[in-house]
Amino acid sequence: MKFFADTADVAEIADLAATGLLDGVTTNPSLIAKSGRNFLDVVKEICGIVEGPVSAEVVATDHATMMKEAAVLRALAPNICVKLPLTIDGLKTCKALTAEGVKTIDGLKTCKALTAEGVKTNVTLCFSANQALLAAKAGATYISPFVGRLDDIGHDGMELIQDIRTIYDNYDFKTEILVASVRSPVHVLAAARIGADVATMPPAVIRQLAGHALTEKGLAAFLADWAKTGQSIL
Ligand code: E4P
Repeated sequence: MKFFADTADVAEIADLAATGLLDGVTTNPSLIAKSGRNFLDVVKEICGIVEGPVSAEVVATDHATMMKEAAVLRALAPNICVKLPLTIDGLKTCKALTAEGVKTIDGLKTCKALTAEGVKTNVTLCFSANQALLAAKAGATYISPFVGRLDDIGHDGMELIQDIRTIYDNYDFKTEILVASVRSPVHVLAAARIGADVATMPPAVIRQLAGHALTEKGLAAFLADWAKTGQSIL
C-alpha cells in the first residue's frame, strides 16, 4: 500500500520524505490556501522533494479551460499528477455527444484526454461507486473517494472503498484506489484490509501509525534496564 501525504506544507513533506516511507503527495485548493503560498511555486517545490506523483488540482469547471490549466501544471515537473473534479454536465448533452464519441462529463472528459497523452490523473471528490466506475472507464490513474467526509454525514466511507475494490476487480480496471479524506489510523487499517492501493493522509495521521502506548512503555523499560547495566554500545 502506498502512502501519500495530504498537505501543501513543504517542511512537513520534507520531514516525511526523509523517512523513505512517502510515495507521493496530494494537494487541493483548500490545502494550498492554508499554505499561504503561490500555488505553482509551492507545487513545483513539492515536486522537487518527492519522486512520486504530486497531485495538483485544476480549478476550472469546463473542459477547455481544464486542459489549459493542466498544461500549465504539467509543465511544472514530470511527476505532476493532474487532479480533476468528478463533475456531471448534463445527461441530455451527454447522450447527444456520446454518439459522436465525446463525453460531456467535463472532469472525466479531460481525464480521458490527458490519460491518452500519458499524463497521470487523479479524479477527486468521489462519493459513490458509480462515480468511481465512470472515472475508471475514463482511464483515471487514481480515483479519490473521500471516506472522512462520508462518515461526517452519517455514511460508511469504508463501504464505498469496498464497493470500488469489488467493481474494479470485477472488470480488471487499472485505476488505483486512492483513499482520501482520511482522519485516523483506523481508516488506514480498514483501507489496507480492503486492499486499497493508496492512502493519502495528513502528516499527523502518518506519524500516528507508528505510535502505540505499549511500544513507548516497553522502550522506556528496556532503556531503564539498559542504564542499570552501566554498559555502552559505542
Ligand atoms: C485529497 O486528495 C483530498 O483533497 C483530501 O484528502 C480531502 O480531505 P478533507 O476531507 O479532510 O478535506
